Amino acid sequence: MASKFVRFCAIFSVLSLFACVSNAQLSANFYASSCPNLQKIVRKTMQQAVKREQRMGASILRLFFHDCFVNGCDASLLLDDTPSFTGEKTAVSNRNNSVRGFEVIDAIKTNVEASCKATVSCADILALAARDGVNLLGGPSWTVPLGRRDARTASLSAATTDLPPGSSNLSNLTSLFNRKGLNPSEMTALSGAHTIGLARCLTFRRHIYNESNINPTFAATRQANCPLTGGNQNLAPLDLRTPTRFDNSYYKNLVAKRGLLHSDQELFNGGSEDALVRSYSNNNNAFFKDFVAAMIKMGNISPLTGTNGEIRLNCRVIN
Ligand code: HEM
Ligand SMILES: *[C@@H]1O[C@H](CO)[C@@H](O)[C@H](O)[C@H]1NC(C)=O
Ligand SMILES: *[C@@H]1O[C@H](CO)[C@@H](O)[C@H](O)[C@H]1NC(C)=O
Ligand SMILES: *[C@@H]1O[C@H](CO)[C@@H](O)[C@H](O)[C@H]1NC(C)=O
Ligand SMILES: *[C@@H]1O[C@H](CO)[C@@H](O)[C@H](O)[C@H]1NC(C)=O
Repeated sequence: MASKFVRFCAIFSVLSLFACVSNAQLSANFYASSCPNLQKIVRKTMQQAVKREQRMGASILRLFFHDCFVNGCDASLLLDDTPSFTGEKTAVSNRNNSVRGFEVIDAIKTNVEASCKATVSCADILALAARDGVNLLGGPSWTVPLGRRDARTASLSAATTDLPPGSSNLSNLTSLFNRKGLNPSEMTALSGAHTIGLARCLTFRRHIYNESNINPTFAATRQANCPLTGGNQNLAPLDLRTPTRFDNSYYKNLVAKRGLLHSDQELFNGGSEDALVRSYSNNNNAFFKDFVAAMIKMGNISPLTGTNGEIRLNCRVIN
């Protein structure tokens, strides 16, 4: 069945490049014999990290998003800059502690290497860790398709153009997600990730001072720790109600005009996503179901498979 699909796909791809985008050949049991304890090792290390700091579940989830959106889920984001190599960490949407959690991925990788030498990719570790981060904070769990390999390159320019800033409006968001094969409904479900984690003042200042589609009491509350000038790195929870619990309260906030980012409130501002936001705000199970499906789809963005790429030994450097 699988090989038939590949053959069909190969013939078909001559006619249409996009017919085969989803043929990533990932599989849930990829490491079943080569690293049977993989999922336990990842889970245990994530459990320790989230126990130490709950935000880490959110930070690792965002690492996965920012990896997948830049040339696919290939761990390119994890590569450090060196004098002769520039990676993605200094892109506007990543720099200055915007993305974080790299040392947790390092710890998982060390533990995985101790049991399964040179076997498991950093890209797959990230996919599993993101799933565990969500679940450890009360969100759903799901089976993660595996078999990704790690990139030997990274792209600062793609990280600059392909990651959405918090200032994006609905049409910006729609087109960025569309370029990754994700439709507006999937985008709206994935945005529910903002039910956990924190954002820096820099990313929401304009929204809380200068915009009208925001509850004034909420705006005043957020202004207290995000001054007009200075305090760029000051933090506020993306979800005002239950910031360390993965639930549908993000959507309840949006319906009440209490989205923290301009881009969040764009999903409920009289546009095409209003109905879906309202429905998720009333139905946690529907949100979980669609979030899981969209996470699996996002995890399928252009993975390196087969003999492409490599199994990095240290997630920060190419072998
Ligand atoms: C829809 C477009 C999106 C935009 C415009 C956006 C933007 C942002 C911004 C500006 C921040 C704060 C960053 C900072 O303080 O520097 C943030 C945080 C976060 N984002 Fe998104 N994001 C989007 C989608 C997603 C998706 C799809 C996911 C995951 C599936 C995600 C997961 C997170 C998480 C968990 C945090 C908190 C991270 C932490 O506390 O360390 N975001 N996002
Ligand atoms: C990063 O943050 C520091 C303060 O923590 C600030 O001085 C610097 O300008 C910031 N850089 C960027 C690129 O935002
Ligand atoms: C949104 O898209 C417009 C073009 O439609 C572009 O000019 C603008 O810079 C984009 N804004 C963001 C925040 O990406
Ligand atoms: C989105 O923003 C850009 C400028 O940043 C503007 O050109 C465009 O018309 C906006 N679209 C919507 C739907 O507001
Ligand atoms: C508010 O909008 C004005 C006019 O566009 C701009 O000059 C000012 O910098 C904005 N203030 C903030 C805090 O974004």
